[in-house]
Amino acid sequence: MSENKQIPQHIAIIMDGNGRWAKQRGKDRSEGHFAGMMALRETVKSAAHRGVKYLTVYAFSTENWGRPQAEVDALMELVCKGVEMNTPELRQEGVKVAVIGDRSRFSESVNSALDRIISQTAEGEKMTLVLALNYSSRSEITAAVQAIARRIATGELKAEDIDEQLISASLYTASLPDPDLIIRTSGECRLSNFLMWQAAYAEFYFTDVLWPDFGDEQLAEAIKAFGARDRRYGLVK
Ligand code: IPE
Ligand code: IPE
Ligand code: MG
Repeated sequence: MSENKQIPQHIAIIMDGNGRWAKQRGKDRSEGHFAGMMALRETVKSAAHRGVKYLTVYAFSTENWGRPQAEVDALMELVCKGVEMNTPELRQEGVKVAVIGDRSRFSESVNSALDRIISQTAEGEKMTLVLALNYSSRSEITAAVQAIARRIATGELKAEDIDEQLISASLYTASLPDPDLIIRTSGECRLSNFLMWQAAYAEFYFTDVLWPDFGDEQLAEAIKAFGARDRRYGLVK
């Protein structure tokens, strides 16, 4: 937790509803994704100003590859555009960018854009923005199990050495604290393969607001709701 107990140290967001937002306006889904990027821009700024230390956003799941090719292409282009449009402001705001997920499936242009934003924001100390891209919890856990099994095969580790800490340290999120608050927009109440291990004691906040309509005011409401929760961690007060 942050010094201020009311402010979650780590917020994770499932940014959902871009397609429905576009549909309501008779626009193409890709326009919904662009509007979603603008909502992310505002939310990052708001979170940093409110003292959040880590903001993780689900931007592209391993399952999202199954969408129509034109939409996948638009989303990949948006990653590159997003880097270009937002790097200066992120630097100015002291926001450092990190990426979780399997980057091996991305094109060279997407990967070089990601490398650029990571290196150009590396000095940021106010908040870390974690982009979950080609991410899913099950693939993350599978990769971690493989990595641990390889270390056992070489004799570096014994089965008895596997504990919760080692598992956490073998995930993409190794350097991050667990999320305190998980927000999902658009009225859907599911995790969709997001941070399943890390969410063990997270508070959940669901809102009907579609992601492109999310911003400072909606984040404030979610943080307020979080402040009213009683986190017991299985104990008796
Ligand atoms: C979330 O919005 C963005 C991504 C999954 C990339 P959706 O595209 O899922 O929007 P809906 O759920 O169809 O409205
Ligand atoms: C989850 O949203 C993934 C992201 C927000 C990137 P989806 O829209 O893909 O998830 P489902 O299909 O509603 O479970
Ligand atoms: Mg969706």
